[in-house]
Amino acid sequence: MKLFQIDSSARSSSVTRQLTAKFVEEWKRNYPAGEVIQRDLTTTMFPHITDDWGATRLEPSQLTPAQRNYLSMSDHLIEELEAADIIVIGAPMHNFAIPSSLKAWIDQIVRLGKTFGYGPSGVRGLLAKKRVIVVTARGGAYEKGTPAEKFDFQEPYLRHILGFMGLTDVTFIHAENQSREGAGPSFAAAAEHVERLAAEQSQQVAH
Ligand SMILES: Cc1cc2nc3c(=O)[nH]c(=O)nc-3n(C[C@H](O)[C@H](O)[C@H](O)COP(=O)(O)O)c2cc1C
Repeated sequence: MKLFQIDSSARSSSVTRQLTAKFVEEWKRNYPAGEVIQRDLTTTMFPHITDDWGATRLEPSQLTPAQRNYLSMSDHLIEELEAADIIVIGAPMHNFAIPSSLKAWIDQIVRLGKTFGYGPSGVRGLLAKKRVIVVTARGGAYEKGTPAEKFDFQEPYLRHILGFMGLTDVTFIHAENQSREGAGPSFAAAAEHVERLAAEQSQQVAH
């Protein structure tokens, strides 16, 4: 059983990094045989998509060596994702959405014929079923049913793009108000939720 940990905060005192680390620690404590794969999106910079991305629409046998080389990072990142059984993603809110490092990773893994395809009823995700936990941190608060909810372009986007690739079993845990009053209790509630989910997940795989 493989747990894939993805971090995208560039801050040394990152809230999301503390929470993803907590998830991993708790999961490992309950399931020592489990394997953890880590991907820190702030240490490898993925290139922006260029015109060469058109190679993703060609049959693999038609690719030139240069095109194969251009797509090799994308190939590797998709293989890494495919191998995971559970994924925990740390996603800080940046400018009402996600950090560019996380977006650059998404741009590398959303790929025709590999993670999505077209079937008789339209687009279908090609990734096998996996459990996904997304831990976010925000300076403000964007709870459902509040006026600020409409400025949350983070959860709706991530839910959509993960679902587009077939990842529909997604739970979000938000640490709200991290730049203002209420940061402590919000962090504590998120940490408690993370711990509970990690224990539940490890118990499911241990049986
Ligand atoms: C570049 C940048 C943009 C941010 N934009 C927002 C924002 O749009 N809304 C918000 O509520 N907080 C925003 N914040 C605050 C972060 O979401 C908050 O500091 C959170 O704790 C970040 O997660 P991290 O601690 O894991 O890095 C921003 C922070 C940075 C550094």
